[in-house]
Amino acid sequence: MSKLIRCSISIEEELLNKFDENIKGRDYPTRSKAIIDLIRQELVKKEWKEGREVAGAITLVYSHHKREIVNKLMTVQHDYHGLVISTQHVHLDHDNCLEIVVVKGKPGQIEKLSNKLKTVKGVRHSSLIMASTGKGI
Ligand code: NI
Repeated sequence: MSKLIRCSISIEEELLNKFDENIKGRDYPTRSKAIIDLIRQELVKKEWKEGREVAGAITLVYSHHKREIVNKLMTVQHDYHGLVISTQHVHLDHDNCLEIVVVKGKPGQIEKLSNKLKTVKGVRHSSLIMASTGKGI
């Protein structure tokens, strides 16, 4: 971990008040931690935009009763086996499944995989969590 330094910034009082109001109730121990989080979020966005190696998770909710859906999702994941680090399948109830596909690789490829999984017939909800390998932040 790199050494901590103190820095001061000039900011409009009204804007700072809005920021403090915005982070109220989010369990940040300090305002500094909230600002550091924002900076890191920006850096992660930049990693995705610039096509650096990133990590993420694709979540899928579907009913396993739908014909062929499990096979189709599996086939797509095999097509992108270089990106998929692991998958976790949770049986939410009698009908519904939640699958989490953990990925690492180039953003464009991850987004392609995410879109292919999301558009498989029968997928009820899908989201892509854009995270980082942690190296650049
Ligand atoms: Ni299941």
